[in-house]
Amino acid sequence: MSNAPPIVLVDRCTKHYFRGSERVEVLKSVHLEIARGDFVGLIGPSGSGKTTLLNLIAGLDQPTTGRVVVNGVEISALTESQLALWRTNAVGFVFQFFNLIPVLTAYENVELPLLLLNMSRRRRREQVMNILELVGLGHRLDHRPGQLSGGEQQRVGIARALVTDPALVVADEPTGDLDSRKSQEILDLLQELQVRLQKTILLVTHDLAVAARVRRLLRIQDGQLIDDTENPESTSHPLFGSRNVSSAARRLEEQERVKPSNAAGA
Ligand SMILES: Nc1ncnc2c1ncn2[C@@H]1O[C@H](COP(=O)(O)OP(=O)(O)O)[C@@H](O)[C@H]1O
Ligand SMILES: [Mg+2]
Repeated sequence: MSNAPPIVLVDRCTKHYFRGSERVEVLKSVHLEIARGDFVGLIGPSGSGKTTLLNLIAGLDQPTTGRVVVNGVEISALTESQLALWRTNAVGFVFQFFNLIPVLTAYENVELPLLLLNMSRRRRREQVMNILELVGLGHRLDHRPGQLSGGEQQRVGIARALVTDPALVVADEPTGDLDSRKSQEILDLLQELQVRLQKTILLVTHDLAVAARVRRLLRIQDGQLIDDTENPESTSHPLFGSRNVSSAARRLEEQERVKPSNAAGA
């Protein structure tokens, strides 16, 4: 890799919420850089701050203190409306429950984000067709979500996330609602898209089998990054190597076994 600037910089960010008058520290000074084109997983127990951190990076929320810079834009300094516009162009979102519109066809669901951009009908059609072919749904254009399997619905979700050609793709528990075979299929697809389209993917999960598929695995606990594992064997990106195995997840599993579950962070 060159010394290209990271696509994501989370610069000593904290995030606090108020529950009544009580201040809840959800993120405690998180510092993180993500290289362009990498496939990064974020794993941690429920309530550890995964979604909060993802939302800061995807411009859905702002840090209490610290800076977030994505693709050269300091998004933590943008106003709400600037941020909304930035998100539409720069980030693709894949959701746990697919979030497809039931009355729209696969084609129309994927076209939706493009309607927010100033783009001709013809170009929209080109991009929607390209990405639906790429995710293997070129023959399901006119199907509504209810006529598709869970795995197919998530492929529509992924196509919708990628149709704007975003710099960054974020996925919050994208396999959380799928069985393990379907989950592996979705991960195969994400990995393939990462290679073919050279996307940077940030994937949040609490599932070790899912985490095993990423190249770099971050672990968060109580609002702090406590582990950052490069998985030399687990990657799909040509810049980073080849093949994937589950050694990082195995290491994590071993750590989970030796650590008492209520161990507090220092
Ligand atoms: N808008 C909010 N207001 C108050 N507390 C919140 C809010 N969003 C998240 N939290 C709290 O922050 C903590 C981390 O939440 P979250 O980032 O969703 O965790 P995870 O995705 O790891 O399960 C939780 O204790 C949650 O209750
Ligand atoms: Mg979450």
